[in-house]
Amino acid sequence: MPADTALLKVENLVTRFKSVERGKWVKAVDGVSIHLNPGEIVGLVGESGCGKSTLGRSIVGLEKPQSGRVLLDGVDLGTLGGRKLRETRRAIQYVFQDPYASLNDRQTIGEAITEALIIHGVADRTEQRRRILELLDQVGLPAVLAERYPRELSGGQRQRVAIARSLAVEPRVLICDEPVSALDLSIRAQVMNLFLTLQKELGVACLFIAHDLALVRQAASRVYVMYLGKVIEGGSSLDVYARPGHPYTSALLASVPSADPRIEALREAPVLKGDIPSPTNPPSGCRFRTRCPQAMAICAVNEPETVALSSGHSAACVIAEQVHRGEVIAPKVH
Ligand SMILES: Nc1ncnc2c1ncn2[C@@H]1O[C@H](COP(=O)(O)OP(=O)(O)OP(=O)(O)O)[C@@H](O)[C@H]1O
Ligand SMILES: [Mg+2]
Repeated sequence: MPADTALLKVENLVTRFKSVERGKWVKAVDGVSIHLNPGEIVGLVGESGCGKSTLGRSIVGLEKPQSGRVLLDGVDLGTLGGRKLRETRRAIQYVFQDPYASLNDRQTIGEAITEALIIHGVADRTEQRRRILELLDQVGLPAVLAERYPRELSGGQRQRVAIARSLAVEPRVLICDEPVSALDLSIRAQVMNLFLTLQKELGVACLFIAHDLALVRQAASRVYVMYLGKVIEGGSSLDVYARPGHPYTSALLASVPSADPRIEALREAPVLKGDIPSPTNPPSGCRFRTRCPQAMAICAVNEPETVALSSGHSAACVIAEQVHRGEVIAPKVH
């Protein structure tokens, strides 16, 4: 679907932080353009520190971008102010990795949800009570939990409360920042399934940030891959996972651990060698070149253009077409 029917559009967004090195900047998000269509789940993947959370936080206004635009329904949030901005922003909610971060320990679960309902204009006490019970039920929690405090809940229950609270304002977009990765392995699938069911039922669009490529493949119809502050590839999950166009995506996919211990035993050294370079001083040309098995001299000179590979699928690499056609084989892992 073209970006102009998009519900949420991010254009050329740049968010920088002051570096500890004097006079320097950490270019956490360095010119990112993405979009979300109504009701779809889009994955955002990449290694730690590549700028996923900063992008998400910039979209909801938790960080202030230096430049670029965030548009909801074609309305540039940068042109709004005061009440109108707050009202519009409410349509975009953030679900944190750590549910502790979004819940106040001195508030009961009921109070926390009530607070969100009041912000949403639900002032009537009876209606508030009804909605609290409805929301708790939607996220699979018993009504008695309304009187409890966050510390009395398990991690999975707290994340369910955090989801209920973000749904209280009837958002149109959810930015889910690794919403299940802080949870015990055994309850991750439960919370993930709940999330997918709710997302379908309510038709809310979702940017799903994750390290876990398998999880994104299962949940998202499209995916963006980030490296050092930039989106280097984007497309339908089917395309990107089956025929990646960027050597970085190939390497990421090749480094996904296999569930089969026999294959794991045969695995050679990690495909992605070395650390991500500092975002304060990224490599010239292509940022991935210092770790790229296919790097050529030109990669140090020019920043690669984004190449269209198939409908909605593109990658920023000079040999994207060859990689996509399978002519450049990622280093073997087994
Ligand atoms: N408040 C801040 N001040 C300074 N630097 C920051 C700040 N927040 C993030 N950074 C830096 O910006 C870069 C991107 O960080 P970010 O948290 O967005 O990455 P991420 O992709 O979400 O990583 P992870 O997968 O570990 O959550 C990192 O180099 C990080 O150190
Ligand atoms: Mg993060």
